[in-house]
Amino acid sequence: MTAASITPVVGLQAAFLEGSIVTQLGPGFLARFHSAALVHDSSRAFVAFDDNDEVAGFALGTVDVHRFNAYMKPRVLPSTIRALLSPTRIGLLGSLVRMVLEGEPQPPMPAELLLLVVHPRSRRCGIGRSLLVALESAFAREGIGQYRVAARSRLAVARAFYEALAFEHEQDRTVLGQPMVYLTKRVEGEREPSGTAERDKRQPGSGH
Ligand SMILES: CC(C)(COP(=O)(O)OP(=O)(O)OC[C@H]1O[C@@H](n2cnc3c(N)ncnc32)[C@H](O)[C@@H]1OP(=O)(O)O)[C@@H](O)C(=O)NCCC(=O)NCCS
Repeated sequence: MTAASITPVVGLQAAFLEGSIVTQLGPGFLARFHSAALVHDSSRAFVAFDDNDEVAGFALGTVDVHRFNAYMKPRVLPSTIRALLSPTRIGLLGSLVRMVLEGEPQPPMPAELLLLVVHPRSRRCGIGRSLLVALESAFAREGIGQYRVAARSRLAVARAFYEALAFEHEQDRTVLGQPMVYLTKRVEGEREPSGTAERDKRQPGSGH
């Protein structure tokens, strides 16, 4: 993913990533979030393009969720406050406080898939799968053996997708009063020499 993809990625997330509090903070917050995430050294972000060169999907992961969160929090604080000043979003304040108090799932697992969205018109074409293949290749190059993802339990499509891709159930938690399922996946592959991590990939898996 490059800086040029931030605007279409924000549009895709705002329109189609249902239920995420990050999404509910709005496009201004999301633009700041993705700009900051893109330059953090733990981030691994991939974008897929369709035949018209439009962004069809993206995935954002990290090889160190704890360090990623510590880096992101102060950088998104001003845009979080700006987002909350809107009367339609002030209600999210309580949820954000609860989220901070609820903490991260245990045991700690450094690598995480943070965001994954495919445009509805491009779904069931293997793009989600290809994005995760790209992400897992990046993880494997750094010797990561396993990673975690959190999904809202009610999102049946997301659960079907992760099940099809051999994710395993790890634990259930209530986050912000909503049931959340945590899944993990083993990463196959071997560590390669450092400096080879790929940070940008067009149409993962298709060579486009
Ligand atoms: C979940 C999501 C990323 C899947 O992307 P996708 O590109 O459509 O997925 P793929 O085409 O790679 O599907 C891979 C496999 O997952 C399963 N799968 C995907 N969508 C499914 C659906 N709607 N119903 C049942 N199984 C599904 C299938 O087994 C599929 O393989 P198949 O098409 O050969 O049968 C996409 O539906 C999406 O963006 N949903 C909204 C956002 C979201 O829920 N993100 C995850 C939040 S944690």
